[in-house]
Amino acid sequence: MTKRAVVAGVGHYLPDRIMKNSEFEASLDTSDEWIRSRSGIERRHLAAPGQTTSDMATRAARAALADAGLAVDDLDAIILATSTADFIFPSAATMVQAELGMTKGFAFDVQAVCAGFIYALANANALILSGQAGRVMIIGAETFSRIMDWTDRSTCVLFGDGAGALILEAGEGDGTPADRGVLSTDLNSDGRFRDILYVDGGVSTQTTGYLRMEGKEVFRHAVEKLAATATTALEKVGLTGADVDWVVPHQANIRIIQGTAKKLGLSMDRVVVTVQDHGNTSAASIPLALSVGKERGQIKRGDLVVTEAIGGGLAWGAVVLRW
Ligand code: UT7
Repeated sequence: MTKRAVVAGVGHYLPDRIMKNSEFEASLDTSDEWIRSRSGIERRHLAAPGQTTSDMATRAARAALADAGLAVDDLDAIILATSTADFIFPSAATMVQAELGMTKGFAFDVQAVCAGFIYALANANALILSGQAGRVMIIGAETFSRIMDWTDRSTCVLFGDGAGALILEAGEGDGTPADRGVLSTDLNSDGRFRDILYVDGGVSTQTTGYLRMEGKEVFRHAVEKLAATATTALEKVGLTGADVDWVVPHQANIRIIQGTAKKLGLSMDRVVVTVQDHGNTSAASIPLALSVGKERGQIKRGDLVVTEAIGGGLAWGAVVLRW
């Protein structure tokens, strides 16, 4: 028997306020047509004034617990992927822990920007396989609207707020790719590219800042590196694109999603796409897409799912799992 970290439940939360592309036209030299054609984004959700990342994360976590039919006491750990925590410390994960009423176990944040959920999944998988935790809540939650320069049309039209959560629990398989659960992970980063996507402020520099991005450069890296990491993760377990039921990519740009699918030899009807409705929600985008994909009836028990993401760092990676 082989130990596996198996999906027990999934859920998400999106704030009520929906901002349509056309709303940018009053204050910026942009258009619904430009945003749709260059990014595939049609609308995004924005957190209410005063609403925090930990608040959205807690709501997504509750939805995942309900989906799994589990109680808070059934959890051993919470890992929260975010670049927009409520405070510098404590971690947003411990705030979620308190909000949920969880008084045992442990909670911590992971910061790998848009790749954060992939990093968090890999960490949760390792905790379960090593026996340090039996059941882990993994959350991606972001309030990127708070780090937007709302006068910069090249960035502010692309991002949104939201949260998604997934529960992994210890299970058993026979050690083949037919097992349910996480089958492989592939993590990468290369800090030489830190200047093409970053926030120009922080604590030790004693500044506050906004997201800055060289979109074209990030785009170029994205298609190449996402296809490569997904292929590597599949190869680790002897699989290819032909074995994949669903690609659940980070939702940054429909053209990146299409380009990556093409490189993997997959048609778009095997890809879960939510970018039109959510925009880029950074670490929240994959768990949001997993939850929406399940709700739509796309992702079903036993399906082979590949998730992949890239973001600031650059940091990128992929996880192959059987749902
Ligand atoms: O999640 C982290 C990873 N992030 C990403 O994956 C984002 C990657 N990059 C992208 O998605 C795309 O590069 C963008 C959507 C950001 C931009 O698309 P693009 O096709 O690369 O456009 P561009 O940056 O080359 O800009 C084309 C033109 C420029 O004008 P000129 O220099 O050709 O006159 C921009 O100034 O479009 C202009 N532009 C806009 N025009 C109208 C930039 N933003 C806008 C805008 N509305 N919002």
